[in-house]
Amino acid sequence: MKYNILGRTDLRVSRLGFGCGSIGGLLVRGEYPKMRQAVSRALELGINYFDTAPLYGNGQSEVNLGAVLRELRAEALIGTKVRLTGKDAGRIGEAITGSVEESLHRLGRETIDLIQLHNRIGFSWEREKDPDRIGLPDLDTVVEVFAMLERQGKVRFWGITAMGETDALRAAIAKGGFQSIQIPYNLLNPTAGEAAGEGFPFQGYGKLIGRAAQQGIGVIAIRILAGGALSGNPERHPVASNCVNPIASEEVYGDDVARTRRYSFLVEEGMVSNLVEAAVRFVVSNANVSTALLGISSLEQLEQAVKYVELGRLSAETLAKIRG
Ligand SMILES: NC(=O)c1ccc[n+]([C@@H]2O[C@H](COP(=O)([O-])OP(=O)(O)OC[C@H]3O[C@@H](n4cnc5c(N)ncnc54)[C@H](OP(=O)(O)O)[C@@H]3O)[C@@H](O)[C@H]2O)c1
Repeated sequence: MKYNILGRTDLRVSRLGFGCGSIGGLLVRGEYPKMRQAVSRALELGINYFDTAPLYGNGQSEVNLGAVLRELRAEALIGTKVRLTGKDAGRIGEAITGSVEESLHRLGRETIDLIQLHNRIGFSWEREKDPDRIGLPDLDTVVEVFAMLERQGKVRFWGITAMGETDALRAAIAKGGFQSIQIPYNLLNPTAGEAAGEGFPFQGYGKLIGRAAQQGIGVIAIRILAGGALSGNPERHPVASNCVNPIASEEVYGDDVARTRRYSFLVEEGMVSNLVEAAVRFVVSNANVSTALLGISSLEQLEQAVKYVELGRLSAETLAKIRG
């Protein structure tokens, strides 16, 4: 496993990170022995970064991750999150501090390595219309609170989720004040890494990965398999969430699966063994990605993804064919 330093932090993160979210679902709905086996194997394979959030299984993901890592006596890096609701306007400090305390308790830790804002970001917080999307002035407050928690020793570093309005995200990254972004980046929507082609049908992420890297901000790629659609298989694993809301791609999951077929030629022409390999290696090909998170439903999926990461970047010829 190769490692990257996450932006200007001193966190040395594995190129593949373990996603403990609800979509893959292993750390939320799995049987405990299977979670332990998968986390143990991940550590053995060199994965040292685990991403969770209070929202994943209503705290269950943090509880399970904390329990497994304690049992394994593992020194892993943990990133978790804070999501503000419309009711938190005017009490951002209190809301974040309370959420971080609860996460520390569920994880059974004294410090969180990386705390991240889970909300989308826009220019202003329209609490009635879109309570999840906070505004840039509120982000300034969030950053101040995160910095205070760092001084108190509760968190080591902090970051944002780079979802919401692209122009607002561009402004947030230009201003900085945080050490990492989590950003959707995959074959169906690669615009966080490269220019959108003519008539690109989804939200463009304006090459924010390169902008963040230039500012010394660490980049955590999310949704690298578009929630599973990039496997090309519409069926969901039994522990996976059976309802995936696409992020910045088609409206419904089935259409993402169908869209994935436009990359079948990569398999037919022998450039990769399957679409999951293409998708994983596509993300790994971007040198500005510090770590790519994978949602996991089973040990087999983990083993396979690690194998593909180890194969490294796609060839220049394959990347050129993908870009058409
Ligand atoms: N900050 C945020 O707002 C945010 C948003 C999204 C995600 N995240 C983070 O990113 C992580 C990953 O995102 P995600 O789980 O949403 O999406 P993802 O990694 O794109 O997709 C996960 C799905 O891919 C499929 N998969 C995984 N490995 C596979 C393999 N080897 N072969 C075939 N299929 C495979 C599984 O589907 P099946 O189960 O159907 O097989 C799994 O449920 C999350 O766990 C979370 O930590 C953060």
